[in-house]
Amino acid sequence: MGKFLVDGRHCLSGRVRINGAKNSALKLMVAALLGHGTFEVKNVPHITDVETMTGVLQALGVGVRFDSGTMQLKVSEVQGHTPEALVKSMRASVQVMGPLLARLGRVEVARPGGCNIGSRPLDIHMTSFEKMGATIDVEGDKFVARAPRLHGADITFRYPSVGATENIMMAATMARGETVIRNAACEPEIVDIQDFLNGMGAQVKGAGTPVITIQGVPELGATDFSVIPDRIEAGTYLLAFLVTGGNGTLENVVPEHMTPLLEIVSSMGAEVSVHERTITVSSPSKMNAFRLITGPYPGFPTDLQPQMVALATLAHGTSEVEEAVFDQRFGYTRELAKLGALIEPNTSTVAIHGPATLAGANLVAGDLRGGAALVLAALAADGHSAIEGLEHIDRGYEAMEHRLRSLGAKVVRVEE
Ligand code: EPZ
Repeated sequence: MGKFLVDGRHCLSGRVRINGAKNSALKLMVAALLGHGTFEVKNVPHITDVETMTGVLQALGVGVRFDSGTMQLKVSEVQGHTPEALVKSMRASVQVMGPLLARLGRVEVARPGGCNIGSRPLDIHMTSFEKMGATIDVEGDKFVARAPRLHGADITFRYPSVGATENIMMAATMARGETVIRNAACEPEIVDIQDFLNGMGAQVKGAGTPVITIQGVPELGATDFSVIPDRIEAGTYLLAFLVTGGNGTLENVVPEHMTPLLEIVSSMGAEVSVHERTITVSSPSKMNAFRLITGPYPGFPTDLQPQMVALATLAHGTSEVEEAVFDQRFGYTRELAKLGALIEPNTSTVAIHGPATLAGANLVAGDLRGGAALVLAALAADGHSAIEGLEHIDRGYEAMEHRLRSLGAKVVRVEE
């Protein structure tokens, strides 16, 4: 997969156009499994997770064409045997369970293992399918779910899981009667999926609030759609400006999706100005330390936690970051320490003492957002860094090195 070679301490400036949200696009692709006809989905990011999901859909019988950010999906008959290797390589593929169970009454999905940000159980998905009349068996390393016809149910989640909210929403669109999901996740991506499903003819309301109500309908069609901007990609580039003492503008963003990040960087001294679809940020001469705790939306997104820790290494004073969503999302801090970052880890919190003098080092990305944090820290460090493990970064960032270079960064990809 190659590595990034980064020459640090070049100030970034300019404008960057943000892509469609990975965590919406992947689920919309899956939701199409419920329908019939031709879909045209715009603003789909060109990242490897989308390629993997394309492979999953094709194996299930969906025609997929993808060109310049527009994806065409042709859905007629689908089958319920998901390709094991692809499913295991991407947890989001567990989301095919809801649509396939609703449509076919039976689905087999390889059981994804733990991953490098935590154990990530699926109990909320499975118990909710059971409440809707499904039986779930674990056969070898597969989940086999069966339900001749799902029925509506009143389900209260013990935690507002994003994936479970989406899976149950999708399953309920064609179930008999009404389903209510309480303590549902409120992420903007959930609203996107509601809008997509309703475009297909579903009757879903309440997404964006903790109570979502779905009225089952007999069948669903197709729709054209444009994916919302990726608030995590946007946040990563915003932080790239700040770690290099630069300033610049994010285009094609929804600023209200990014409120917790904008509040924290403002409290650190950054100047932030927000317009309808753009955010402009300027670095202060000196950044203040901060405290943050991650949480479900509208809390601070866990997917920006590592990038914030990279920024904290440059702030004056001791910052404290608590990870309250995943149980092992600080693995990347060992790599940051190689650059000279002063980070004291605890079980679910880290204290970051700044400002540290960062110097280039050889680093290995172990997960997507941790990898992004290493890139940011390398941009801020004196001298040369090499970052391996690009297969993680490529899952969620389209052509990151090109986009950073267009802003003035010195980053190249060398193939091994
Ligand atoms: C989605 O993962 C995102 N992935 C993640 O993005 C994101 O970090 C996460 O939501 C939280 O915002 C996709 O959308 C593809 P959860 P998901 O179910 O759906 C526990 C990125 O970097 N839980 O809300 O898997 C779980 O273990 C990624 O882009 C259960 O205990 O997240 C975790 O601690 C990584 N039982 C917490 O809930 C369950 O049945 C949140 O998980 C389900 C979840």
